[in-house]
Amino acid sequence: MKRRAFLQGSLALGAAAILPLNIVEVEAGEHERFTFAFISDAHIQQIKGNRFVESWDKGLQMAVAQCNLMDPKPDFVLFGGDLAQLGKKAELDHGAEILSALRAPVKMMMGEHDYYLDLGEEWQKMFGEPTYSFDHKGVHFVVLNSILVDERWINKWKTPMERMQTMAGLDDPNGSPFMVGKKQLEWLKRDLAKYPDDTPLVVFSHSPLQKIYKGWNFWTEDCEDFYQIVKRFKKVNVIYGHVHQIQYNKIGNIAFNSVMATAWPWPYPDSYKKAERYVPKMTVKMNRADPFFERDATGWQFVNVHSGRVDMHYILPNNENRIVAYDFRKNRPQDLKFQECQIPPQKHY
Ligand SMILES: [Fe+2]
Ligand SMILES: [Fe+2]
Repeated sequence: MKRRAFLQGSLALGAAAILPLNIVEVEAGEHERFTFAFISDAHIQQIKGNRFVESWDKGLQMAVAQCNLMDPKPDFVLFGGDLAQLGKKAELDHGAEILSALRAPVKMMMGEHDYYLDLGEEWQKMFGEPTYSFDHKGVHFVVLNSILVDERWINKWKTPMERMQTMAGLDDPNGSPFMVGKKQLEWLKRDLAKYPDDTPLVVFSHSPLQKIYKGWNFWTEDCEDFYQIVKRFKKVNVIYGHVHQIQYNKIGNIAFNSVMATAWPWPYPDSYKKAERYVPKMTVKMNRADPFFERDATGWQFVNVHSGRVDMHYILPNNENRIVAYDFRKNRPQDLKFQECQIPPQKHY
């Protein structure tokens, strides 16, 4: 990590430390430095009429406010999916209205909570195609829609809302594993064909493009097909939402980093303990969310893509900030402070 980049980030963040959002700084080797923000998993939820769950609203509003205060300004903001809780037009509208206050161009990604009511119809009307790519200052960015499932599962429900609520279940016992699907994978092959192997690649997906734990749908069934397609690239980075917690991994040439949600944190050690025999061991355990701090274990990221690899700077309003940086000696992402130990109790700020 470059000291100047970190200091710049720290200063900007210090100015806005009480506000939560997700920001990304990119510096790709010889390429021009730039920053982008990553805001994810807002889960805007309608109670009735124009009443929405206030805490989820606040998480997103704080992210937007902090993003607007960043200096240097991010070149763009990626929204990582799950804008709505139950895919309703009112929720998408309300979320879009909050995002409209952003003073940087916004790029959208679809989450399963946005999709399974009307199979993405309203979302696409508002935000366009869910699969696309773009080049930015020497880095090739790809946005995939990785929350698709088998057609048979889609058609087995009596009503669209029954399907949506089943998919929205936190532990997803009756869900169906996510996948990218053949059509998008074919598109990806064509999209990447013209890029040389040394182009830094950053792929955004809502679900982890990995098989982490099926019971919570931290899973993408055809992720190996994706690995094959990007195999020839020297530096591939996947940044994903959906898991509402810090995760990192390396598989072959691909480094993986997750982002925090602005809505709520994913279950904590107690819930892991209950399901001990069924869940994989976490590399880095999280602190338990404190119910008296509604922003506990939520936050945003400041991403530095120096040398074409990703360093994640997690800015956590109610917890100690964390950095998961790419370690070139070990050739994988590493948590700088908490790699070898359980996190001690954290102070609130
Ligand atoms: Fe989510
Ligand atoms: Fe999700």
